[in-house]
Amino acid sequence: MTVAGWNLQSWQHCPAAQQPAWPDDAHLGRVVKELAAMPPLVFAGEARRLTQQLGEVAHGRAFLLQAGDCAESFAEFSADSIRDKLKVILQMAVVLTYGAGVPVVKIGRMAGQYAKPRSSVTEQVGGVELDVFRGHMVNSDAPDAEARRPDPARLVTAYQQSAATLNLIRAFTMGGFADLSHVHAWNQQFVASSDAGRRYEQIAGEIDRALRFMAACGIDLAAEATLHQVAFSTSHEALILEYEEALTRQDSLTGDWYDCSAHMLWIGERTRQLDGAHVEFLSGVRNPIGLKVGPSMTPDELLALCERLDPERAPGRLTLISRMGVKRVGDVLPPLLEAVRCAGHVVVWACDPMHGNTFLSNGRKTRRFDDILGELRGFFGAHRQAGTWPGGVHVELTGDDVTECLGGFGDIAEDQLHLRYTTTCDPRLNARQAIDLAFRVAELLRA
Ligand code: PEP
Ligand code: CO
Repeated sequence: MTVAGWNLQSWQHCPAAQQPAWPDDAHLGRVVKELAAMPPLVFAGEARRLTQQLGEVAHGRAFLLQAGDCAESFAEFSADSIRDKLKVILQMAVVLTYGAGVPVVKIGRMAGQYAKPRSSVTEQVGGVELDVFRGHMVNSDAPDAEARRPDPARLVTAYQQSAATLNLIRAFTMGGFADLSHVHAWNQQFVASSDAGRRYEQIAGEIDRALRFMAACGIDLAAEATLHQVAFSTSHEALILEYEEALTRQDSLTGDWYDCSAHMLWIGERTRQLDGAHVEFLSGVRNPIGLKVGPSMTPDELLALCERLDPERAPGRLTLISRMGVKRVGDVLPPLLEAVRCAGHVVVWACDPMHGNTFLSNGRKTRRFDDILGELRGFFGAHRQAGTWPGGVHVELTGDDVTECLGGFGDIAEDQLHLRYTTTCDPRLNARQAIDLAFRVAELLRA
């Protein structure tokens, strides 16, 4: 496939929203050249396999779990934090597999999620106006003017940290850490850990019986590769296009272009202009592509974007990530579901119940667990009405015991937010809130 008029640099002729003001173009140029000579992080065959798995989701034969940090951090970069995040995602996936009764495609917002779109270019910190933090791929979150200056050298650090993260993810998911019996045992600990967890005893018990049934049938759970290893893909918002361009390579087998910085890339709510640089760039790469769909989206605009990004109507090519907010989902989503279906695009519809439900509490961004759940309910309801498949969930979480979202497991209150509020960008579910959410979604899937 080649898209008429597309080439690696064609995005440069389109307006690009949300780009940093790099202070030194020559430095940026040197860095891009350096990155273009580095090995790809993923290879084209893996991206093709993910498209095929997402095609199964689009057809209603699988479910998508896409989860991870709002912004990965250069500072909190350790084996433990990668392991703990992966652990939560795997725990959620087991619960969702049971709830959905179909395979769960697992994609991390990991190994590359280092750039952030922002609603204003500056922010006030302690009475001083500073350039806004744009993710560690661009600048530092430290509150001083020098630290906020974009530094192209950070693109190389982002690449290196992504490579190290991906390496560890591959080791964990192929080397036994993801063993179904382990993951199930962690979930049982969660269920037994409190009265709130006991609400899920029945689901956990049913999973337990299913595992014992397989063992009784003679399936050696420890030896079975499919229970011992998991397929896990990476994704991030394709925001800083110099970085994405530098890691985009032509596949020697097919001649197609793949953005080899991650298996899947998505276009954010603030950069999805039809004539903008982000849509132009991703229209020409063959990876599976995500598109955030917020409450201002109209059916006509969405159809035009689908036509640009999925002209071949290829199942799995496009994942539409609905992020409407609990109050809007019921009105805005149904006409979009209808329009996309009538136009013949076999897309994955996923629900991001986080980004439409953010508000400030004493100066800190937060989200209510009940709003998150409410938007998910609205999403599932709209699909049920339309006869379409609610294909997946997209959430921001961390494996750490943070206090950033309100309610849920542990019932975090507004006056507790300050206790362990460590995000550099949006509020994330902590491990227990995330597993709690997975059990709730499993209930919705089985309802
Ligand atoms: C995000 O996913 O972190 C994000 C910024 O989302 P959106 O583009 O939907 O606001
Ligand atoms: Co976010």
